[in-house]
Amino acid sequence: MKVIVTENYQQSCDVAAKIIQQTIQAKADAKLGLATGGTPVPIYEALIAMNKNGEVDFSQVRTVNLDEYCGLGPDHPQSYRYFMNDKLFNHVNINKENTYVVSGLGDPNANAEELERMVFEGGTPDLQLLGIGTNGHVGFNEAGDFVQAKSHMENLVPSTIEANARFFETRDEVPTQAISMGMKGILAAKKILLVASGPSKQDAIRGIVANDNITPQNPATFLKLHPDVTIVIDRELADLAGYQA
Ligand code: PGA
Repeated sequence: MKVIVTENYQQSCDVAAKIIQQTIQAKADAKLGLATGGTPVPIYEALIAMNKNGEVDFSQVRTVNLDEYCGLGPDHPQSYRYFMNDKLFNHVNINKENTYVVSGLGDPNANAEELERMVFEGGTPDLQLLGIGTNGHVGFNEAGDFVQAKSHMENLVPSTIEANARFFETRDEVPTQAISMGMKGILAAKKILLVASGPSKQDAIRGIVANDNITPQNPATFLKLHPDVTIVIDRELADLAGYQA
Protein backbone atom coordinates (compact mmCIF):
# COMPACT_ATOMS: atom_id res chain seq x y z
CA MET A 1 0.00 0.00 0.00
CA LYS A 2 1.32 3.40 -0.98
CA VAL A 3 0.42 6.41 1.19
CA ILE A 4 0.86 9.88 -0.27
CA VAL A 5 0.81 12.70 2.28
CA THR A 6 0.01 16.14 0.89
CA GLU A 7 -0.06 19.64 2.34
CA ASN A 8 -3.84 19.98 2.18
CA TYR A 9 -7.07 18.54 0.80
CA GLN A 10 -6.94 20.50 -2.46
CA GLN A 11 -3.47 19.14 -3.11
CA SER A 12 -4.74 15.61 -2.37
CA CYS A 13 -7.47 16.11 -4.95
CA ASP A 14 -4.99 17.43 -7.52
CA VAL A 15 -2.76 14.39 -6.95
CA ALA A 16 -5.76 12.07 -7.33
CA ALA A 17 -6.89 13.82 -10.53
CA LYS A 18 -3.39 13.40 -11.93
CA ILE A 19 -3.44 9.66 -11.20
CA ILE A 20 -6.80 9.35 -12.96
CA GLN A 21 -5.48 11.38 -15.90
CA GLN A 22 -2.46 9.05 -16.16
CA THR A 23 -4.76 6.02 -16.14
CA ILE A 24 -6.68 7.44 -19.11
CA GLN A 25 -3.47 8.47 -20.91
CA ALA A 26 -2.19 4.91 -20.58
CA LYS A 27 -5.47 3.45 -21.86
CA ALA A 28 -7.87 5.65 -23.82
CA ASP A 29 -10.84 3.36 -23.14
CA ALA A 30 -10.01 2.92 -19.46
CA LYS A 31 -12.84 1.72 -17.25
CA LEU A 32 -13.07 3.88 -14.14
CA GLY A 33 -14.85 2.91 -10.93
CA LEU A 34 -16.18 6.21 -9.58
CA ALA A 35 -17.35 7.49 -6.23
CA THR A 36 -19.73 10.17 -4.96
CA GLY A 37 -19.85 12.16 -1.72
CA GLY A 38 -18.10 15.36 -0.74
CA THR A 39 -14.54 14.09 -1.10
CA PRO A 40 -14.32 13.59 -4.88
CA VAL A 41 -15.92 16.91 -5.91
CA PRO A 42 -12.61 18.84 -6.27
CA ILE A 43 -11.11 15.80 -8.03
CA TYR A 44 -13.86 15.99 -10.63
CA GLU A 45 -13.38 19.77 -10.88
CA ALA A 46 -9.70 19.23 -11.63
CA LEU A 47 -10.53 16.61 -14.27
CA ILE A 48 -13.05 18.99 -15.89
CA ALA A 49 -10.35 21.69 -16.06
CA MET A 50 -7.88 19.20 -17.59
CA ASN A 51 -10.48 18.12 -20.13
CA LYS A 52 -11.16 21.73 -21.15
CA ASN A 53 -7.39 22.28 -21.56
CA GLY A 54 -7.07 19.19 -23.73
CA GLU A 55 -5.03 17.35 -21.10
CA VAL A 56 -7.40 14.42 -20.75
CA ASP A 57 -9.82 12.88 -23.23
CA PHE A 58 -12.91 11.08 -21.93
CA SER A 59 -14.32 10.18 -25.34
CA GLN A 60 -13.64 6.46 -24.95
CA VAL A 61 -13.69 6.23 -21.16
CA ARG A 62 -16.17 3.86 -19.50
CA THR A 63 -17.35 4.25 -15.92
CA VAL A 64 -19.19 2.29 -13.26
CA ASN A 65 -20.20 3.86 -9.96
CA LEU A 66 -19.97 2.27 -6.55
CA ASP A 67 -23.49 2.80 -5.32
CA GLU A 68 -26.89 4.47 -5.43
CA TYR A 69 -29.56 5.31 -2.86
CA CYS A 70 -32.65 3.11 -2.92
CA GLY A 71 -35.77 5.09 -3.73
CA LEU A 72 -34.13 7.98 -5.57
CA GLY A 73 -34.52 8.21 -9.34
CA PRO A 74 -31.93 9.67 -11.72
CA ASP A 75 -33.60 13.09 -11.70
CA HIS A 76 -33.55 13.43 -7.92
CA PRO A 77 -30.89 16.04 -7.08
CA GLN A 78 -29.45 13.82 -4.33
CA SER A 79 -29.31 10.67 -6.41
CA TYR A 80 -25.84 9.56 -7.35
CA ARG A 81 -26.74 9.44 -11.06
CA TYR A 82 -27.70 13.11 -10.82
CA PHE A 83 -24.50 13.84 -8.86
CA MET A 84 -22.28 12.22 -11.48
CA ASN A 85 -23.96 14.08 -14.34
CA ASP A 86 -23.83 17.35 -12.44
CA LYS A 87 -20.30 17.09 -11.03
CA LEU A 88 -18.51 15.42 -13.93
CA PHE A 89 -20.26 13.87 -16.92
CA ASN A 90 -22.10 17.00 -18.12
CA HIS A 91 -18.81 18.91 -18.26
CA VAL A 92 -16.45 16.54 -20.06
CA ASN A 93 -16.48 14.82 -23.45
CA ILE A 94 -17.67 11.48 -22.10
CA ASN A 95 -20.31 9.43 -23.89
CA LYS A 96 -23.00 9.06 -21.21
CA GLU A 97 -23.95 5.71 -22.73
CA ASN A 98 -20.58 4.49 -21.46
CA THR A 99 -21.39 5.54 -17.89
CA TYR A 100 -23.23 3.34 -15.43
CA VAL A 101 -24.81 4.17 -12.11
CA VAL A 102 -27.05 1.43 -10.77
CA SER A 103 -30.73 2.32 -10.56
CA GLY A 104 -32.16 3.12 -7.13
CA LEU A 105 -35.68 2.40 -8.36
CA GLY A 106 -37.36 -0.97 -8.81
CA ASP A 107 -36.26 -4.34 -7.49
CA PRO A 108 -33.08 -3.83 -5.41
CA ASN A 109 -31.93 -7.42 -5.86
CA ALA A 110 -32.21 -7.23 -9.64
CA ASN A 111 -30.44 -3.86 -9.55
CA ALA A 112 -27.63 -5.30 -7.43
CA GLU A 113 -27.24 -8.18 -9.87
CA GLU A 114 -27.01 -5.73 -12.75
CA LEU A 115 -24.36 -3.68 -10.91
CA GLU A 116 -22.34 -6.84 -10.27
CA ARG A 117 -22.52 -7.67 -13.96
CA MET A 118 -21.47 -4.15 -14.96
CA VAL A 119 -18.40 -4.28 -12.70
CA PHE A 120 -17.08 -7.44 -14.31
CA GLU A 121 -18.39 -7.25 -17.90
CA GLY A 122 -15.77 -6.10 -20.41
CA GLY A 123 -13.05 -6.31 -17.74
CA THR A 124 -12.96 -4.95 -14.22
CA PRO A 125 -12.14 -1.26 -13.58
CA ASP A 126 -8.62 -0.12 -14.39
CA LEU A 127 -8.91 2.21 -11.43
CA GLN A 128 -11.40 2.41 -8.58
CA LEU A 129 -11.71 5.77 -6.84
CA LEU A 130 -12.85 5.59 -3.22
CA GLY A 131 -13.79 7.91 -0.41
CA ILE A 132 -14.14 6.47 3.07
CA GLY A 133 -16.87 6.75 5.70
CA THR A 134 -16.16 7.75 9.28
CA ASN A 135 -16.73 4.07 10.16
CA GLY A 136 -14.44 2.87 7.37
CA HIS A 137 -17.16 2.06 4.88
CA VAL A 138 -16.12 1.94 1.23
CA GLY A 139 -18.95 2.19 -1.25
CA PHE A 140 -21.81 1.59 1.18
CA ASN A 141 -20.22 -1.53 2.66
CA GLU A 142 -20.98 -0.62 6.25
CA ALA A 143 -18.99 -1.61 9.32
CA GLY A 144 -20.43 -4.60 11.18
CA ASP A 145 -19.99 -8.30 11.80
CA PHE A 146 -19.26 -9.06 8.16
CA VAL A 147 -18.81 -7.49 4.75
CA GLN A 148 -20.47 -8.84 1.61
CA ALA A 149 -18.57 -9.97 -1.45
CA LYS A 150 -21.13 -9.26 -4.17
CA SER A 151 -23.12 -6.13 -4.99
CA HIS A 152 -26.13 -5.99 -2.70
CA MET A 153 -28.62 -3.80 -0.88
CA GLU A 154 -27.18 -2.35 2.31
CA ASN A 155 -28.99 -0.88 5.32
CA LEU A 156 -27.22 2.38 6.11
CA VAL A 157 -26.06 2.76 9.69
CA PRO A 158 -27.03 5.84 11.77
CA SER A 159 -23.57 7.47 11.45
CA THR A 160 -23.78 7.28 7.65
CA ILE A 161 -27.31 8.69 7.59
CA GLU A 162 -26.10 11.45 9.91
CA ALA A 163 -23.07 12.22 7.73
CA ASN A 164 -25.16 12.31 4.56
CA ALA A 165 -27.94 14.43 6.08
CA ARG A 166 -25.95 17.54 5.15
CA PHE A 167 -26.94 17.02 1.54
CA PHE A 168 -30.69 16.85 2.32
CA GLU A 169 -33.18 19.43 3.67
CA THR A 170 -34.10 17.22 6.62
CA ARG A 171 -32.67 14.05 8.15
CA ASP A 172 -35.95 12.25 7.42
CA GLU A 173 -35.33 12.60 3.70
CA VAL A 174 -32.03 10.69 3.80
CA PRO A 175 -32.55 7.23 2.29
CA THR A 176 -31.86 4.40 4.73
CA GLN A 177 -30.91 1.83 2.12
CA ALA A 178 -28.60 1.76 -0.86
CA ILE A 179 -27.32 -0.60 -3.53
CA SER A 180 -23.57 -0.99 -3.19
CA MET A 181 -20.79 -2.71 -5.02
CA GLY A 182 -19.46 -5.44 -2.73
CA MET A 183 -15.89 -5.96 -1.57
CA LYS A 184 -15.20 -8.44 -4.37
CA GLY A 185 -16.00 -5.87 -7.05
CA ILE A 186 -13.98 -3.17 -5.32
CA LEU A 187 -10.98 -5.45 -4.88
CA ALA A 188 -11.27 -6.61 -8.51
CA ALA A 189 -10.14 -3.19 -9.77
CA LYS A 190 -6.60 -3.19 -11.13
CA LYS A 191 -5.71 -0.16 -9.08
CA ILE A 192 -7.43 1.44 -6.07
CA LEU A 193 -7.18 5.13 -5.20
CA LEU A 194 -8.58 6.24 -1.85
CA VAL A 195 -8.74 9.90 -0.87
CA ALA A 196 -9.62 11.11 2.62
CA SER A 197 -9.51 14.35 4.53
CA GLY A 198 -10.76 15.77 7.81
CA PRO A 199 -10.55 14.75 11.47
CA SER A 200 -13.73 12.63 11.27
CA LYS A 201 -11.83 10.11 9.12
CA GLN A 202 -8.94 9.61 11.54
CA ASP A 203 -10.12 6.34 13.13
CA ALA A 204 -10.91 4.80 9.76
CA ILE A 205 -7.52 5.79 8.32
CA ARG A 206 -5.66 4.71 11.46
CA GLY A 207 -7.13 1.22 10.99
CA ILE A 208 -5.59 1.07 7.53
CA VAL A 209 -2.16 2.63 8.06
CA ALA A 210 -1.26 1.88 11.68
CA ASN A 211 -1.38 -1.93 11.69
CA ASP A 212 -1.80 -4.98 9.47
CA ASN A 213 -5.20 -6.09 10.77
CA ILE A 214 -8.26 -6.67 8.61
CA THR A 215 -11.69 -6.35 10.21
CA PRO A 216 -15.29 -5.93 9.00
CA GLN A 217 -15.61 -3.33 11.76
CA ASN A 218 -13.55 -1.16 9.36
CA PRO A 219 -14.34 -2.40 5.84
CA ALA A 220 -11.58 -0.30 4.27
CA THR A 221 -9.04 -2.57 5.99
CA PHE A 222 -9.93 -5.20 3.36
CA LEU A 223 -8.01 -3.03 0.90
CA LYS A 224 -4.88 -4.50 2.51
CA LEU A 225 -5.59 -7.62 0.44
CA HIS A 226 -5.10 -5.65 -2.80
CA PRO A 227 -1.65 -5.36 -4.41
CA ASP A 228 -2.02 -1.82 -5.81
CA VAL A 229 -3.66 0.65 -3.43
CA THR A 230 -2.76 4.33 -3.19
CA ILE A 231 -4.10 6.36 -0.28
CA VAL A 232 -3.92 10.14 -0.51
CA ILE A 233 -4.29 12.04 2.76
CA ASP A 234 -3.23 15.48 3.91
CA ARG A 235 -0.66 16.09 6.63
CA GLU A 236 -3.31 16.96 9.23
CA LEU A 237 -5.13 13.66 8.77
CA ALA A 238 -1.86 11.70 8.56
CA ASP A 239 -0.81 13.10 11.93
CA LEU A 240 -4.21 12.48 13.52
CA ALA A 241 -4.22 8.89 12.23
CA GLY A 242 -0.72 8.30 13.57
CA TYR A 243 0.76 7.60 10.15
CA GLN A 244 4.53 7.24 10.13
CA ALA A 245 6.13 7.28 6.69
P1 PGA B 1 -17.63 11.95 1.97
O1 PGA B 1 -18.14 10.46 2.06
O2 PGA B 1 -16.70 12.01 0.82
O3 PGA B 1 -18.87 12.76 1.74
O4 PGA B 1 -16.96 12.24 3.27
C1 PGA B 1 -17.24 9.43 1.88
C2 PGA B 1 -17.96 8.12 2.03
O5 PGA B 1 -18.93 8.04 2.79
O6 PGA B 1 -17.51 7.15 1.41
